[in-house]
Amino acid sequence: MRTIVGISGSLRRGSYNSALLRAAAQLAPQSVKVEIASIREIPLYDGDVEERGIPDAVTALKEQLAAADGILLVTPEYNHGVPGVLKNAIDWLSRPNKDIARVFGQKPVGIIGASGGIGGTALSQTAWLPTLRVLGTQAFFGGRVLVANAGKVFDAEGKLSDDALRGQLEKYMAAFAEFVERVGPRR
Ligand code: FNR
Repeated sequence: MRTIVGISGSLRRGSYNSALLRAAAQLAPQSVKVEIASIREIPLYDGDVEERGIPDAVTALKEQLAAADGILLVTPEYNHGVPGVLKNAIDWLSRPNKDIARVFGQKPVGIIGASGGIGGTALSQTAWLPTLRVLGTQAFFGGRVLVANAGKVFDAEGKLSDDALRGQLEKYMAAFAEFVERVGPRR
């Protein structure tokens, strides 16, 4: 069984992106397990803190990613770019440099996202690509999930209520799982 670690880039209790991640985990094929990780305890990056030692929350998430076969980033879009809290987390996870290959190297990474606006995170998904490239990941381009007007596709409990999106997400997760199986780390 392959493991995909899913990370939502929003800390908001009613986050559409966290709701999308939960739905993706539920709709993933049986061949993979989606572990939902949290960036809530990751502090703001500070090189002085790093010199004193990598924070425990960072180390724990690094080890979870290192042990995973793939990573699913579920990203909001802020001001047509990536959300700071998720970028901050990824920056910590890339420290020290020598661990990048172990944590991210050759790792299949999928990016999906939900936004309240009409663009459905198209710009932030694209803005992640230079980061995924420099970390040596294998970005998955075999499908797209851009959830626009997210307030209309999740109900009050954060459950996906849109059948078309459910089908699209299921298809994406099947294709991403197949990509992870095909190009992910051999264990
Ligand atoms: C936004 N939002 C937003 N939406 C969008 O489609 N394009 C954008 O550029 C922005 N910019 C932006 C900046 C900032 C600072 C905030 C707080 C919000 C709206 C955003 O899509 C909305 O708040 C989502 O609900 C955020 O995702 P979560 O928290 O629901 O997962």
